[in-house]
Amino acid sequence: MATILEGVSRTFAEFLLIPRLTRKDQKPDEVDLSTPLSAVEPNKLARFKINTPVVSAAMQSVSGSRLAIALARQGGLGFVFCSQDIASQAEMVHQVKAHKAGFVSSDSNTKTDTTLLEVIELMKRTGHSTVPVTDDGTGSGKLLGLITDQDFWVYEDDLSNTVGQHMTAIDKVIFGVEGLTLNEANRLLHKHKKNCLPILDDAGHLTSLVFKKDYEDHMRHPNELLDGSKRLCVGAAINTHDYRERVPALIEAGADALCFDSSDGFTEFQKEGIEWIRHQYGQSIVIGGGNIVSAEGFDYLVEDGGVDFVKVGMGGGSICITREQKGVGRGQASALMDVVRRRDEYLAETGRYIPICSDGGLANDTQIVIALAMGADFVMMGRYFAMTEESPTPKTSINGQMYKPYWGEGTNRAQNWQRYAEDMSTREMVFEEGVDAYVPLVGSVAEVLKTTLYKLRSTMVNVGADGLSEFRDRSILTLVSEQSVIEAGTSSVFQFSATRDIEESNWGGKS
Ligand code: IMP
Repeated sequence: MATILEGVSRTFAEFLLIPRLTRKDQKPDEVDLSTPLSAVEPNKLARFKINTPVVSAAMQSVSGSRLAIALARQGGLGFVFCSQDIASQAEMVHQVKAHKAGFVSSDSNTKTDTTLLEVIELMKRTGHSTVPVTDDGTGSGKLLGLITDQDFWVYEDDLSNTVGQHMTAIDKVIFGVEGLTLNEANRLLHKHKKNCLPILDDAGHLTSLVFKKDYEDHMRHPNELLDGSKRLCVGAAINTHDYRERVPALIEAGADALCFDSSDGFTEFQKEGIEWIRHQYGQSIVIGGGNIVSAEGFDYLVEDGGVDFVKVGMGGGSICITREQKGVGRGQASALMDVVRRRDEYLAETGRYIPICSDGGLANDTQIVIALAMGADFVMMGRYFAMTEESPTPKTSINGQMYKPYWGEGTNRAQNWQRYAEDMSTREMVFEEGVDAYVPLVGSVAEVLKTTLYKLRSTMVNVGADGLSEFRDRSILTLVSEQSVIEAGTSSVFQFSATRDIEESNWGGKS
């Protein structure tokens, strides 16, 4: 006979946090939301941490490069989807890494004999108003000068003049020498009142550019998630079919973390994939596995130096119909509690800490808070980000309200890409595990996260916690009755606030 688990499968909506002592010195703004994404070995620091405990789902309708950039700027991590060919996924990863932050390689360059007309066209095409002039017209040639849109008047100057006639020549250009820090570069920009500082090597070749506007941008985003070269961080999803080719391409493109994307990661296919990656790259690459919903699944993926983090969740996603279609899955809260319990035992046994990601089914800000209190180190969300300006889908107006399309990775629509991929045999889909839907447009990633994170910080203060691990340790959760769920909303009052209706229909209302 099958084993029947005691207790029922629970969801986050069934829990509430009990407040604990708030200290007088606590302020929500000072709460630390950083969290590990890599396994933490005994007496060592995490190899990779994120500054905000939120990652975006590896889905076509969610995580393109624009969203990954917006999220990294808020301290989280986007996982670029793998339901596309390897070259296009690697290109998306590359776009995030090439996003201007700190030292950037120059991709608009010209030569002295180019005409002003041609350089104007280049400026229009790239949107860059400062163009390095090099001996060979490349971003690594010997720097001969700089030309900006301030160096000529479109209606006054003869546009057949050459760049050489109008540029600021190298003897008048303020530049930095390779090896200086970003801080030193910014000091030079400030001192000389410049917008752009070229960085040269000993032979006078251009290596990178530093921009004043990037500095200002950075000051506005203090939590930005940057790598050692001050580039934004990005994650990438992989599958169990083509990882031998996909993983090297993604690493080459600069991915900071990889994660298997599968509704069921408790499989020999995934184990083999993890072993292959560890064999090729050792511990140098951060790799996540999943999804799992049990302690048994946790042990399988983590043992023998396996994954860095595990992703928990099956069937809870907003567009997911896996439970209906196949009868497998588990209430998200029960799955998380089981895996967290095993993770904590494993920590006591081995001294290794494995971060846990709660993936899918988070219907409002409260549930994010509960997931983190219950033991998740960070959460992965699809719908939340599909609703933002930066998701890759077009805005659509329906009955006067703006929406964005949002579809599951288990739909025919998402899996169609394989038909065009040379390296994947076409696998026919017999049934779908997701739906194709619309979600309301709610604003930019920065706007929605600001509210969510403020609520999180303020709940952490209610519990007397200064950081996420303390939050987990101090949290006391209680199960609520159906009647208390009703009581949690307003009661016996009439409300006529249009904004509240909009907020509720967008994000906060469903529980
Ligand atoms: P959401 O945040 O509730 O929208 O859930 C997003 C999560 O749903 C993703 O991170 C995946 O784990 C999962 N998911 C994505 N596509 C599908 C699908 O087609 N079927 C089932 N689950 C899916």
